[in-house]
Amino acid sequence: MKRHFLSLLALVLAVACSPEKQPQPFSVIPMPNDVTLSEGSFNIAGALVTLDEKLDEASAKAVKGFVQTLKTVTGSSMNGKGGDGTVHFGLNPNLGVEEYYLQVRTDGVTVEASAFGGFFYAIQTLKQMLPAEVYGGEKVRADWLLPCVTILDAPRFDYRGIHMDPCRHFWSVEETKRYIDIAAVYKLNRLHWHLTEDQGWRMEIKKYPRLTEVGAWRNGTMVGRDWDSNDGIRYGGFYTQEELRDIVAYAAERNITIIPEVDLPGHMVAALAAYPELGCTGGPYEVWTRWGVAKDILCAGNEQIFTFLEDVLNEVMDIFPSEYIHIGGDECFNGDAEPDRPDPWDVCPKCRAKMRQLGIKPGPRAKHYLQNYVTARVQKIINDRGRKVIGWDEILEGDLAPGATIMSWRGTAGGIQAARKGFDVVMTPNSHMYIDYYQSREYDKEPLAIGGYIPVSRVYEYEPYEGMEPGTEDHILGVQANLWTEYIPTPEQLEYMLLPRLCALSEVQWCQAERKDFTRFDASLDHTFRMLDVMGYTYAKHMRGIIGMPGHEQPARSEEELEAFLKENPLR
Ligand code: ACM
Ligand code: ZN
Repeated sequence: MKRHFLSLLALVLAVACSPEKQPQPFSVIPMPNDVTLSEGSFNIAGALVTLDEKLDEASAKAVKGFVQTLKTVTGSSMNGKGGDGTVHFGLNPNLGVEEYYLQVRTDGVTVEASAFGGFFYAIQTLKQMLPAEVYGGEKVRADWLLPCVTILDAPRFDYRGIHMDPCRHFWSVEETKRYIDIAAVYKLNRLHWHLTEDQGWRMEIKKYPRLTEVGAWRNGTMVGRDWDSNDGIRYGGFYTQEELRDIVAYAAERNITIIPEVDLPGHMVAALAAYPELGCTGGPYEVWTRWGVAKDILCAGNEQIFTFLEDVLNEVMDIFPSEYIHIGGDECFNGDAEPDRPDPWDVCPKCRAKMRQLGIKPGPRAKHYLQNYVTARVQKIINDRGRKVIGWDEILEGDLAPGATIMSWRGTAGGIQAARKGFDVVMTPNSHMYIDYYQSREYDKEPLAIGGYIPVSRVYEYEPYEGMEPGTEDHILGVQANLWTEYIPTPEQLEYMLLPRLCALSEVQWCQAERKDFTRFDASLDHTFRMLDVMGYTYAKHMRGIIGMPGHEQPARSEEELEAFLKENPLR
């Protein structure tokens, strides 16, 4: 009896002393640019959500989607009978297109934006302020509290990209949508979709059916780093135009524009396998089964390639409404597979005749000027439809015509030089933004990767203006990370390489430089990891001292152990 009395007393005291329910700590990634937290909270479960009738259709749809999510996860009808008041979404034409104002008070929430982007991002911020279960799609008992806060937020950069490579390994429509979903949570607004490669052509082109009949399939894949091996498994896949349009629309509903890439004139072996007459030698060619850089590229001296490119790009522009069309342009020369073979453009009679016709002086730079000619012809095709060209930094070599935008990947030098010459730039340097590189130095515990070492902190510390000539910064449109998939065969590994480096990327893209703080970011990852768990994403846990994919996780070595390991096994 006495024992019972004591435990009852303990229970009464515990209830009497329990602290007020608290919202979770503010851990939004990317950190909004102007945040003032105050006392108190707002219970959103059951609140009434109202929206300005002037909201455009896409914004209204996004708000209604948010209400539906809240109904599902809270189990309430969101009709004002629960909750602490009203959540109002109103139009404020004074805000920029991706800017939003958000105020949470104890008696209500006000959201303002001028356009879809702003409303969409306000919703992303609200969701991250709630318990992670808001991402789960199931009813959950939780305290659906928002902390009282005033936020005025807008991105630092207009272009906030992530790249996806379905060519080396193919990703289904559903896998692609999951990639888009998580990019949208962290407020990215561009998906650079690398759809053509030596190892596979991935989009249906009605006028050239062999591009997918032949070019989308390879006779096996090299195993590990054994360049002469082949697993003997036919591999491939492609997206129909209907699927491409579906993905474009899906991304647009998440404020993400898809920039398609047709990589030219190099990285074209899959297309050459389908249409060998487009190459300098006439083939035969085979869709590549190994990684690396091929020697065979489109023949610049053959007028047929421009008809081909115009036809292909016209279908591409019919499908993708993006202002930018990516034309690749990387690694056209010095292919590594046949080191003793000259570059085809140096020896092809048609290419040499074209160089003479264009008045290009013979010599080692001649082929770069011939590439400029190809770029300029393609630029006209794209500009004639009111679109813009973006290409890898190699297109800057020689004498690039004005109007193209440069994607700086071989470090930052190309971007800095391009901006000095007056070209717009997207920074994606392989010093910080190649997230196919290892994320720890304990590579023996990692799935095989292409090499290198870019941990979360390295992505985070990137400052896009570093090294820029003063006055040229405005040419930097933004930042992107690239995730090539030579060594990434499964969607789980894709996500493991992406997350949480994507989160670090998002702060580089969104936050003003003075708002970045790695200690605060690191603490915020606890909430992000809960969100990713709820959504079922695979993610890397290096930031918490764990290395390796699920099922292969191991603790990190001590500093001394790591030094000893690296001495014996240097990372190449
Ligand atoms: C590239 O990584 N070849 C652009
Ligand atoms: Zn040629």
